[in-house]
Amino acid sequence: MSAFSGRDVQSRIYRAGVFGRRPVVPVEPERLAAAARRRLSPAAWAYVAGSAGQQQTARANRDAFARHRLVPRMLVDVESRDTSVELFGRRLPAPLLLAPIGVLEMAHRDADLAAARAARALGLPMVISSQGSVPMEETAAELGDSPRWFQLYWSKDDDVVDSFVERAAAIGSDALVVTLDTHVLGWRTRDLDLGYLPFARAEGIAQYTSDPAFRRLVQARAATATASPARERPTPAAVRALLSMARHYPGDLRANLRSPLPRAAVETFLDVFSRSSLTWDDLARLRERTSLPIVLKGIQHADDARLALDHGVDGIVVSNHGGRQVDGAIASLDALPGVVERVDGRVPVLFDSGIRGGADVVKALALGAGAVLVGRPWVYGLALAGADGARTVLEHVWAELDLTMALCGVRSVDQIGPHLLG
Ligand code: FNR
Repeated sequence: MSAFSGRDVQSRIYRAGVFGRRPVVPVEPERLAAAARRRLSPAAWAYVAGSAGQQQTARANRDAFARHRLVPRMLVDVESRDTSVELFGRRLPAPLLLAPIGVLEMAHRDADLAAARAARALGLPMVISSQGSVPMEETAAELGDSPRWFQLYWSKDDDVVDSFVERAAAIGSDALVVTLDTHVLGWRTRDLDLGYLPFARAEGIAQYTSDPAFRRLVQARAATATASPARERPTPAAVRALLSMARHYPGDLRANLRSPLPRAAVETFLDVFSRSSLTWDDLARLRERTSLPIVLKGIQHADDARLALDHGVDGIVVSNHGGRQVDGAIASLDALPGVVERVDGRVPVLFDSGIRGGADVVKALALGAGAVLVGRPWVYGLALAGADGARTVLEHVWAELDLTMALCGVRSVDQIGPHLLG
């Protein structure tokens, strides 16, 4: 379907090299991360690159890819190739989606809008995060006709959940991705050492502050808040935090600086963000409220995959949140085959956590994933060069996927299977 060619991407880079031009956004994954690290503030780098605890799960994610090896096949006519796949009734040009990533303003001021531009340029679906830095309606407008899914963190407040789900449908989402693995934040050692939680400064809560149900909670909280007793002298950091809250709250900055609402919004968010009492039975409630396909993100155990099927879900994302939640957890790639086996083709099984290049994508597809979500790499590109940077990184992943398919002797995604693995 698409005219995408990995060779064209490769030739463009080499041709530019003849004129002495090197890629602004590094191609090699570790150099890409290192370049982003130099660009980002220490807090932003810790938040984006960091994982839970001793970072063992993040390492395990990568080690699992290194343990699986592709076995290329020769003398197959692979002159013309097709990387497209079908998901939830829509043909996508590649088995690649932009993973939901919150607080993108930490990487670039254009945040979700830049990610949307990158997704649109390539026709790849963007999974819009509940922790977006921009209201989903604005991100959707930037996406134009390009596909979008919405990722839901299940709030403690049912009205907020219902409202998010309604808004997700209204912006034309193809699916609702319910992330299950983050009902509390993991023990993120790097963020803890900096004492940095973006949400406490009202970063990454734009879906909430733009939401009528959430704003009703904020109004009620502000109305009942008693005047605070004399507190410690405000530090410069506290003043900056208050300024950030006022800036992030919709409306006039000066009025916000005098209003209790911006601070009440942060406190309300921290209260209602997520519900740890959620169980399988709650999914029925969601099913009643939406006809969108429901995709569960964060499944790691085959028995949970079975329960997901029993509860009528439409898809699964095998993911450990890039190692950001449980330290010492199973590598996401190692969890994939068991889930695929149990699901047995009844619903699509997607994958994320640890994808750094196109060959990784081939390995995940060979182990049974229907498509993959790309996370940190495009955020690094975003940090380096905004929308162009994010697009470039995704293009590099896609190019390597296309060329690796060619070199392994497969013409289409459905020809990728366990037979490619040694
Ligand atoms: C995430 N992830 C995430 N997931 C989600 O469901 N909602 C979210 O808001 C976020 N936010 C978020 C922020 C940042 C900075 C990162 C790095 C990750 C998890 C994300 O969707 C995906 O599961 C991981 O990024 C995959 O791991 P890798 O490939 O980035 O290592």
